[in-house]
Amino acid sequence: MATVLVASNRGPVSYVLGEDGSLDARRGGGGLVSALSTIDSDESLWVCAALGEGDREAVRRGTGEPGVRMLDIDPSVYADAYNGIANSVLWFLHHHLYDIPREPVFDAEFRRLWESYRAYNRAFAEALAAEAAEGAAVLVQDYHLALVPGQLRELRPDLRIAHFTHTPWASPEHLRMLPADIRGELLRGMLGADRLGFHTRAWAEAFESGAGDLGRTRVATYPLGVDGEELRALAYRPEVDDRLARLRQETGGRKTVVRVDRTELSKNILRGLLAYRELLTTHPEWRDRVVHLASAYPSRQDLDAYRTYTASVSELADEINAEFGTADWQPVLVSVEDDFTRSLAAYRLADVALVNPVRDGMNLVAKEIPVVSEAGCALVLSREAGAHEELHEDALTVNPFDVTETAEALHTALTMPPAERADRTKRLAAAATALPPQRWFLDQLEALRN
Ligand code: G6P
Repeated sequence: MATVLVASNRGPVSYVLGEDGSLDARRGGGGLVSALSTIDSDESLWVCAALGEGDREAVRRGTGEPGVRMLDIDPSVYADAYNGIANSVLWFLHHHLYDIPREPVFDAEFRRLWESYRAYNRAFAEALAAEAAEGAAVLVQDYHLALVPGQLRELRPDLRIAHFTHTPWASPEHLRMLPADIRGELLRGMLGADRLGFHTRAWAEAFESGAGDLGRTRVATYPLGVDGEELRALAYRPEVDDRLARLRQETGGRKTVVRVDRTELSKNILRGLLAYRELLTTHPEWRDRVVHLASAYPSRQDLDAYRTYTASVSELADEINAEFGTADWQPVLVSVEDDFTRSLAAYRLADVALVNPVRDGMNLVAKEIPVVSEAGCALVLSREAGAHEELHEDALTVNPFDVTETAEALHTALTMPPAERADRTKRLAAAATALPPQRWFLDQLEALRN
């Protein structure tokens, strides 16, 4: 029986099924993975969902990793819960992404999807209830599993239950869009926890003002940071050096504006490109002197809105290249591969980092870039990113909807004197590494146990 349990939709390992029937395990990175490794593996268990055919096959064969239990939830229930509710409703509410004249529509189909979401949460609650030792600590992650704390408390009142939200929390006005009974169920699910964690005060306050009476539940903030030593070690490996040399060639030694995101509606990639276009228009002196390196790797391509958005990003980048490009200068280089080596090389090279989400739980890219930057990098940062709460003093703050302001901030960033840039970067890196993943996790565990 485990005394420390973590539950999340995406687990620390995934399996790829080869054509010859072999199963190849791929271990993911991420803060939680290294955090949980500090705990004795006999005592800990990570409960996650089987995401694809490879994972499901691994469950059937019983060849899972020690310390990980994957749940083989019915594929159609899983798809309805993950795509239908978690990604299309809860994600949209928490990030304020709805196109209000048309969405959301809470009809009979929505209620059908919600039943799947409830069943998927229940599968987690039942697995946790079966695996947890008396009085164990259970740390549930994110909007996918918002009902688990309440469901688990009913099954096992002896457990200590925490829930952490990695996204923003919807404003009370947005939360009120949900049908009253569903909103009540969502809040009761969350309030089944002893402790609720958020990245920032803003998200915690949004929760508190939308929830009303918190009962026995305590709310606290744990602003996740990066492990500076580990990240620098990764970023200064020989293969990143090689990639960096190639990037320098591709950019021809010009200044660089760097962004790295999942192609995600909340990341505001389109307005970022519009701001870059406006920069080239209103400050023509930057033509042929700057390159925008935009990594926008695909995400959630099952959803129509994401496919359309991905296509729009490429179209707009092509338009800018057609409008301003010359025989030896391509103004925007878009990369759609999830290529961590290239991202790290771009981090090292960046003169300017652009992080302009419309709303974002934390945004670790804003924290990672200053940590690995070689010569110091000016950070243009949206006031709506969670990271802004800690980084605002040394970043150039922008309203993510104000394209003109963002263009001007890019100009200011590109012209910032090197010494000032280096000083600011040092302070940004210190703030970014204040709460590394292991500490972030252990602080929560300790608070939960006391
Ligand atoms: C982002 C969010 C996390 C979320 C994850 C899910 O990283 O910050 O809160 O859990 O996306 O992404 P996925 O690809 O699993 O849907």
